[in-house]
Amino acid sequence: MKPRVISGAMDTVFEFDYSVQAEDMRGLYEKAKRDQWNAARDIAWQTPEPSDGRVLADELIDIHGSPIWERLGESDRVELNRRITAWRLSVLLYGEQGAMLACSQLVDIVAGADQKFFQATQVMDEARHNEVLERYLQSRLGGLHYPMPENERFLFDTILTEPRWYIKTIALQLVAETFAVSMFKMMAEAARDPVLSEVCRRILLDESRHMGFGMLALPGILREASEAERREMEEFTCLALEKVLTGFFPLEAYQDVGFSPAQIDEVRRYRRDAAARSDYGAYRTFFRRDMHAAMVNNLARLGLLTERVRPRLAALGVELPAAA
Ligand SMILES: [Fe+2]
Ligand SMILES: [Fe+2]
Repeated sequence: MKPRVISGAMDTVFEFDYSVQAEDMRGLYEKAKRDQWNAARDIAWQTPEPSDGRVLADELIDIHGSPIWERLGESDRVELNRRITAWRLSVLLYGEQGAMLACSQLVDIVAGADQKFFQATQVMDEARHNEVLERYLQSRLGGLHYPMPENERFLFDTILTEPRWYIKTIALQLVAETFAVSMFKMMAEAARDPVLSEVCRRILLDESRHMGFGMLALPGILREASEAERREMEEFTCLALEKVLTGFFPLEAYQDVGFSPAQIDEVRRYRRDAAARSDYGAYRTFFRRDMHAAMVNNLARLGLLTERVRPRLAALGVELPAAA
């Protein structure tokens, strides 16, 4: 695939004071240095693959249990299992690349040595995540990649062309990473391939720090924001949430297994009906609950769960606690 060039302009802040100003942030930087892991050394790549070829539990395939699923033979089920996993990992892989690029911009834009040092570690973390997912796709799934979904492209174009650090942080460290954490947790639990489970667990070790950056850096800017700026931050929160929570359908994976347009329509109908009944299966129910709870909790802690934000979250199917 050809690289994508995204034009933009932003300020670089050159710091001269390198003393500790924000102790919590410096602490996060210390943890990041201490807890680096290495995909080349720390993952047991030689572990045998599951004998039936499944990398994830079938329950994670959204048509699992449907009449369409019941009609599939064993080899198509395994093929779908592998291709849908590759599709999901591709989405996450592009997310890691996007996160690395966004954090490299944050190194420039943020003021304060503590913040810059921490962002430099996140650049490295995201490079390692990008690397480990690519290694997994190459070594376990035959190098299968799927294209970047439109929603994800739109989200990262917005993040990468936005000059203000706090808008990038809201979209990346607050919204997109909350989604990614729940996704990696679900995949770590539901993996049939122990290497996939290990990859997801390793990535998760780093993610809490990344979300920690948002939770440490955003309160100050939110406190000082004017009404118009606050509205804008809320708007970006909702926009990022809408992009993250809607429109991820692994169309190409179904096509590659040989589903006809009529069968794909049936898949879409089944997904819609299941969503309307809130019938998601055990893993997906866990994923939704986990992600929604984490999102609501973080937004509430930051004071972003306002009367303007709540109805938009509710429209996305996010369960909200009663307003205080
Ligand atoms: Fe990451
Ligand atoms: Fe991250």
